[in-house]
Amino acid sequence: MTETRETLRTNLLNQIDHDNIPAHIGIIMDGNGRWAKSRGKTRIHGHQEGARRVKTVVRFANDLGVRHISLYAFSVENWARPSFEVSALMRLIRAYIVRERNDLHAEGVKFRLVGRIEELAPEIIKQAEISTELMKNNPGLSLNLCINYGGRAEIVDAVKKIINKGFKADQVTEELISGHLYWPELPDVDLMVRTSGEMRTSNFHLWRSAYSELYFTPVLWPDFDDVELLNAILAYQNRERRFGKISEQLGKE
Ligand code: FPP
Repeated sequence: MTETRETLRTNLLNQIDHDNIPAHIGIIMDGNGRWAKSRGKTRIHGHQEGARRVKTVVRFANDLGVRHISLYAFSVENWARPSFEVSALMRLIRAYIVRERNDLHAEGVKFRLVGRIEELAPEIIKQAEISTELMKNNPGLSLNLCINYGGRAEIVDAVKKIINKGFKADQVTEELISGHLYWPELPDVDLMVRTSGEMRTSNFHLWRSAYSELYFTPVLWPDFDDVELLNAILAYQNRERRFGKISEQLGKE
């Protein structure tokens, strides 16, 4: 980290309210392809650099006291990409799970996959299960790697589970649907970050982002670091979260 970056980080850390850290941060890690193209490299190289960034951001979020981080690593729509890119992403994801296991465990992080996991390659499922089991009692942040994930697919899958259990229409509530999402204990997303300047949420955590604060940055994912995460958290802390109420009602309960 350059001296200026270090100074920036210290300044931002001084401004952060450590009692108001978002409990659940969702990140749409976009811009790997453009990052690589601007350097005359392949898209796969961009994804590799993107995967490297994950370590910095997860470690720093854990240190800050973030409880959950959801990373959009592969959407249900991403299967439509060229097959060599899909294969490379799957290899990268598997390698990440294996390579980072011991470090994540040492940092006290929990790990899980979120999405239509049963459709993934058995080797990815197996490696993820090893990590989830190893880290299940850790006290730190839970790293939710969203793979073969789609927000609409998650709601459809929840509704199917509910119907299969025989619930009647008048028994269907928001809590019942929340309770049938992929990881029911995962709370709503407080802060949703998207890199690369695109301003949409692309079917990520559709149900859990109903009241998320949205933060868009032009920074491409392979350039996103702890300073960028602090910028996002600071922006979040400067928002007034009203959840449908008016300002005067806040802080009175
Ligand atoms: C979007 O950038 C990124 C993805 C579809 C994949 C995200 C994957 C990673 C960051 C690496 C794998 C992650 C882990 C945890 C191992 P894009 O390809 O759409 O970029 P572009 O819009 O510039 O083309």
